[in-house]
Amino acid sequence: MPKRVLYLLGSAAAPVLDAAGAVRLGQASGWDVVLGLTPTAADWLADDLAGLEELTGHPVKSRYRRPGDPDVLPPADAVLFAPATLNSVNSLALGITTSWVVGYAAEAVGKGIPVSVMPCTNTALTAHPQFGRSVDTLRGAGVRVLLGPGLYVPAAPGEGDPATYPWAAALGSLGPPQRPRGEDLIHK
Ligand SMILES: Cc1cc2nc3c(=O)[nH]c(=O)nc-3n(C[C@H](O)[C@H](O)[C@H](O)COP(=O)(O)O)c2cc1C
Repeated sequence: MPKRVLYLLGSAAAPVLDAAGAVRLGQASGWDVVLGLTPTAADWLADDLAGLEELTGHPVKSRYRRPGDPDVLPPADAVLFAPATLNSVNSLALGITTSWVVGYAAEAVGKGIPVSVMPCTNTALTAHPQFGRSVDTLRGAGVRVLLGPGLYVPAAPGEGDPATYPWAAALGSLGPPQRPRGEDLIHK
């Protein structure tokens, strides 16, 4: 039975440097994890991309394919955008899909695929007037924004510790993968 597919989409905030740990957590929960990165995050992880592809068993995608090129990734059953920078939160809310991961998440929202976003934005960035508007817009569209006690709590600038980014809470909030595809077609 194929496993349910989780798209873990990451942008350029320090916790993305532990994408491998997050992938392993997702896999331990039973997901087939596909990793997508913004171009900046992919640049930060340039030396690790081959290892991440080996770990996930999929290409790590950070750019749109060319028209006519095949899409080799399985479709998502759920999307977790984490860590999400101020730029990526706002881009997703405003539908600015220059980056492939934002475009994929935006389309997933429209398709009704469950999408969760865990920001990584210090208190100064969350104070930007667009941030709150973006969170409201995303929640209004059915996106789960994983902010608050027990989830992501912004720290003051320079005081956040990437090692405490709540990956386990982010993945745990998704619940267990639902039944493998096709199982619901089996008549008992
Ligand atoms: C070391 C470092 C850490 C950063 N951490 C954050 C962060 O935690 N949150 C954030 O919103 N931006 C952070 N930034 C800025 C983003 O990387 C920058 O806005 C980038 O353009 C985001 O692009 P992306 O959303 O396409 O990945 C950081 C930049 C650097 C160099």
